[in-house]
Amino acid sequence: MRISQETIDQIRYKVDIVEVVGDFVSLKKKGKDYSACCPFHEEKTPSFSVSPVRGIYKCFGCGMGGDAIKFIMDIEKSSYTEALKYLAKKYNIEIQENENLPDEEIAKQNERDSLFIVLNYAKNYFRDQLLNTEEGRSIGLSYFKERGFNDKTIEIFELGYTENLIDKFTKTALKNGYQLEILKKAGLTIQKEDSTSTQNTYDRFRDRVIFPIHNLSGRVIAFGARTLSKDKNQPKYLNSPETELYHKHQVLYGIFQAKNAIRKDDECYLTEGYTDVISLYQAGIQNVVASSGTSLTNEQIRLIHRFTKNVTLLFDGDQAGIKAALRGLDMLLSEGMQVKVVVFPDKEDPDSYVKKVGTEKFKLFVKKEGKDLITFKTDIYLKDAENDPFKKANVITEVVESISRIPDAITRAVFFKQTANMLGVAEETLIFESNKILLKKNKDQAGKSDDEKFLQEYLPSETEVEKDENEIGLEEEKNFNNLISYQEEESIRLLLSFADDELEKDLKLIAYFITEMEGIEFETPIYQNFINIYRNEFKAGRIANSKFFIHHHNPDIQSEAIRLLSNQHSFSDNWEKYEIIIPTELNTLPSAAYSNILRLKQRKIQKVLKEVSDKLQQNDEWQEQEKYLKIYRQLKTTEVQIANLLGNTIR
Ligand code: CTP
Ligand code: MN
Repeated sequence: MRISQETIDQIRYKVDIVEVVGDFVSLKKKGKDYSACCPFHEEKTPSFSVSPVRGIYKCFGCGMGGDAIKFIMDIEKSSYTEALKYLAKKYNIEIQENENLPDEEIAKQNERDSLFIVLNYAKNYFRDQLLNTEEGRSIGLSYFKERGFNDKTIEIFELGYTENLIDKFTKTALKNGYQLEILKKAGLTIQKEDSTSTQNTYDRFRDRVIFPIHNLSGRVIAFGARTLSKDKNQPKYLNSPETELYHKHQVLYGIFQAKNAIRKDDECYLTEGYTDVISLYQAGIQNVVASSGTSLTNEQIRLIHRFTKNVTLLFDGDQAGIKAALRGLDMLLSEGMQVKVVVFPDKEDPDSYVKKVGTEKFKLFVKKEGKDLITFKTDIYLKDAENDPFKKANVITEVVESISRIPDAITRAVFFKQTANMLGVAEETLIFESNKILLKKNKDQAGKSDDEKFLQEYLPSETEVEKDENEIGLEEEKNFNNLISYQEEESIRLLLSFADDELEKDLKLIAYFITEMEGIEFETPIYQNFINIYRNEFKAGRIANSKFFIHHHNPDIQSEAIRLLSNQHSFSDNWEKYEIIIPTELNTLPSAAYSNILRLKQRKIQKVLKEVSDKLQQNDEWQEQEKYLKIYRQLKTTEVQIANLLGNTIR
């Protein structure tokens, strides 16, 4: 079928890119545009942007971009025609088709389109069986009713039924013009290899109630089918095989029905089964999806992540399954999700429990019983390891593993504190163990963890160091010693210039310097001499003024003092360049002294930082690396603090 140009124009005219994209991604307004984490590639900071004015989207990370139609094609991996149909449906636009023979039309469709069409046909067929046949109503519908599903719920989830007949569905579909190849590719019809027997095609789904599985935009991509027979040889659920449209590991049951609620509540409940989703939805808890009995995959997590960071796992009340599942859940942490866990009482699942206690008590239970994943895990492992010191050591390792997965350092810190208490070990032990893991991860996989980023961001590379120094005009002297030396010189100059006024003007400059610089030695020998003199005189209760130095017996000190006192002007040009404050007036002195000391400390720290970072880069031993990383972080923190203080005082 070909959609007429008129219809296409109408669709283009009516679509709102923000609405269209917003159905799949949580958009945040940013000025005129909207932004989000890109749904087409993995990222933690948003580089995906939507412009309502121009009607386009663009990801600056992976390069995907286009208009609303292109977006649907990209996100649904659908054809142009399918994208148009989707948008037409969303905006209630009636599709006009160009006149063409239906036979030729179906042949022209590409395979994906055909699969969607045949699956939609099958869904309608199963619904019809459920609602409009004697057997469907007496067996299928009454089963759903018994389970408490009302008509509206049955409609929303498009539930169905198939009779116990070998190939009724396939025959009807063929009669309606659907091709066997497509029926097979959609997983609806099974063809036996030996074509000698007359009967060689079968319906996959027979004698079962049907749960259609929808993709994000609400189209059927597969079916789950539950048997109603007591026959133990029958599997309880039969599901569509993997097809071009259905990749089990990428799909979450109920996501289409739940997505708006997930976004609104900023939380997603993750259950194990189809019936859990449906029952909770009907009970008014609509932000719920199911992994359908398989262990959670990265793709499924990312699907949830498009709508929220908060996941609450609702576990059936059997402990054995939970412990097995816990390991796999660390993935959620790696993805930066905030994970809570709720376990239902023995033998209950969310479906049975909500029926038993009702919506309000259910919500209360979830709220009260919800534990964050780390605490939950620690709890379970600890119970397991009771009175067994060896096992307990394992618990610590397990817990640290999990915490180390959390990308955010502050969150990690919170959990170290919390679990240290539970485990009865020092917080430092956990951090130490975690650092080991993080450092190992850094080496194993480049560019992945936060710590790697930390290193990249903060360790000055050679070029950065050069740049920094160029900026402040020290072209030929490219090391921190010079910077430190200049700052030391400035300290002495300040002291020399203003010490004379100390007594009459009640200045406390020297006292201030001496206290602030306690334990810190100057690196330039001549200035260290000056400082020593100031210290000794101060200890003796005297103020060493400029005369004291100008007439000093040591000729080096004498000439340097004279140079500093007389050359102020020729220096001052440079001082500005060097970001050194020039106290031209006495009343700027306090802040000049203050920032000078800070700057001196800053330069010293920067020098040590450089040394430590060199060591870090040269050293392959992780113990060593760990040691230096720790020192580095402490220094870096102090440096940042000083920079902040300087920022406040200078400008
Ligand atoms: N499942 C499956 N195949 C099976 C058993 C289970 O695919 N043979 C999946 C289904 O998606 C099912 C989920 O695992 O919904 C959870 O299984 P279970 O708890 O046994 O099913 P319920 O959803 O609780 O179904 P019911 O309440 O009807 O027993
Ligand atoms: Mn159940």
